[in-house]
Amino acid sequence: MTMILAIESSCDETACAIVKDGKEILANIVSSQINVHTKFGGVVPEVASRIHVENISTVIMEALEKADIKMEEIDAIAYTLGPGLIGSLHVGVQAAKTLAWLYNKPLVPIHHLTGHIYANAFVSDLQFPLLALVISGGHTELVLMKSDYDFEILGSTRDDAIGEAYDKVARVLGLGYPGGPKIDKIAKEGKANYHLPKPKVDGEYDFSFSGLKTAVLQLIQRENKAGREVKVEDVACSFQETALSMLVEKTKMAVLEYQPKMLVLAGGVAANSRLREMMQEAEKDFEDTKLIIPPLYCCTDNAAMIGASGYIAYKHGLFGDFDASADPSLEMPRDNVNFSQNENHDNI
Ligand code: KG4
Ligand code: ZN
Repeated sequence: MTMILAIESSCDETACAIVKDGKEILANIVSSQINVHTKFGGVVPEVASRIHVENISTVIMEALEKADIKMEEIDAIAYTLGPGLIGSLHVGVQAAKTLAWLYNKPLVPIHHLTGHIYANAFVSDLQFPLLALVISGGHTELVLMKSDYDFEILGSTRDDAIGEAYDKVARVLGLGYPGGPKIDKIAKEGKANYHLPKPKVDGEYDFSFSGLKTAVLQLIQRENKAGREVKVEDVACSFQETALSMLVEKTKMAVLEYQPKMLVLAGGVAANSRLREMMQEAEKDFEDTKLIIPPLYCCTDNAAMIGASGYIAYKHGLFGDFDASADPSLEMPRDNVNFSQNENHDNI
């Protein structure tokens, strides 16, 4: 039996989870700062790190209490090393190191996106080769895994991440932050009546969303100028259909080329109800590829997913040391290589 205590603080959620054998969630405490950042229309990094400092110990204590276990029973401490906001990451990294030092436990540094991918392990054992569509507020990537802990990026966004595009379009439409869930909801009442261009991208599996965001802005300005009423639900629906169809098309192409055993969705935008529907529709045309969609509570940032990824990293001996410092632009590990030895430990 392996018991992992996992810590996540890369953006605006302060989270701690206790995960048994990479599969069973004994506690998953998430303290969201959304209410605070909503007032500013987006995450304010300085405010985020300050709130992490205020909340981190409570969140860790709550997780241990909920799981009804003691620190002595924990086998390792997994924590998000990067990518994310530097000030936010530092808080989780310091908390993890402090616990590891106090209780003499091994440290397992985790790449945040591997957490989003391994959240699917709570649904089903992962089978390889596996294709992951990673869609969050900071990332849009198609990742191929030929085995555990080997992440090959097939393509990524050239500009905005899909979640970022959702948030920006929602702001323009006056829907507030975070935009994803708001657009998801209101788009159900609308029709895709407005024509929006699909940006062309050179890379076979690359994406681009900033042109689409600008097109929405121009559409609203044009309609306002012409004195026509802007139907918010129709704009939301048109944007969503265009953005998601780009994701689905490229994912289908990659499934066809790589014939993975599994296709998994990962990241906050995987919570989108329309995307889930479109992917389930696409799955009907797949020959031997099974679609796995993470449970809603595991799509947006949480620490259980860091525990799931942490369990695999722990099994592979991917331990970190006290020198490894938060890395806002950490790259995904390839071939089980220990990625914790980053160079920039001056700033901790
Ligand atoms: O993975 P996540 O919690 O944080 C990052 O690692 O970035 O993703 C947050 C992003 C935000 O941009 C948010 O608007 C988006 O996920 N999101 C959604 C939905 N729920 C969250 N986007 C579309 N539809 C949703 N239902
Ligand atoms: Zn995330």
